[in-house]
Amino acid sequence: MSSQPIGIFDSGIGGLTVAKALVDLLPNENLIYFGDTAHLPYGDKSTAAIQEYAVKITQMLLDSECKLILMACNSASAAAFNLIIEYVAGKAQVVNVIDPVVAFLRDNYTEKRVGLIGTRQTVSSHVYDEKIVALQIGIDFYAKATPLLAPAIEDGFAESKVIDELLKVYLDDAILRASDALILGCTHYPLIKTKVAQFYDNKITVLDSSKVVAENVRQVLANQKLLNTEAGGKKHFLVSDYTDSFAANTQIFFQEKISLERYPLWD
Ligand code: DGL
Repeated sequence: MSSQPIGIFDSGIGGLTVAKALVDLLPNENLIYFGDTAHLPYGDKSTAAIQEYAVKITQMLLDSECKLILMACNSASAAAFNLIIEYVAGKAQVVNVIDPVVAFLRDNYTEKRVGLIGTRQTVSSHVYDEKIVALQIGIDFYAKATPLLAPAIEDGFAESKVIDELLKVYLDDAILRASDALILGCTHYPLIKTKVAQFYDNKITVLDSSKVVAENVRQVLANQKLLNTEAGGKKHFLVSDYTDSFAANTQIFFQEKISLERYPLWD
């Protein structure tokens, strides 16, 4: 069972930032990545729509015998994690990108001010707020929706002035400025981490979830004795809608050239 793949999914290619952290930490693991590019962005979809997409993708990953399913998308984690746990019913482990970050806050941010930027879905679900309040460690939490960032990043504008302008509009906010830490609550945002930190003159700690999430996956697999100890590391990168621009941009997210294939999940 340990040689079975890890299935990882996102609305598009942003989740490749998490896949990259996972591959760096667990190079032996076989991986199937699915980006639902036909439905991008998830951040502006209804909860019901995201749940429907997540269930269908999860079924495909279960059919591919994945031992663990990683929801590498904050919007999907916010809208559909509980449903997916029920749906999978123990047939695979399921990990999201929210709980590992909340656990990190629990260990490091008692009585601090923590901000978050993410999609409308992630922010309006209040999932982070609820989990942080439940910690009862006096974190003063504030979340702001920044809906235009993910599409701009997905489209290859991470390094451009377009992002600088969007950051001015979104980040020039008195409450965010007063934060001790800012969570990048979207798996597309690690690509603009440096720009976000620079916007605040590097005075706010910018938390990118990919490494804590990868470490959480390692712990779950280790606890279940499912770590692949043999040389493996086969990777498949699938998308529901293939365009040359997605293919070209994957390298920015995964930091190496990968081969992207169209998978007809919605045909
Ligand atoms: N990567 C997704 C997330 O973490 C957001 C992108 C989208 O809106 O589809 O929320």
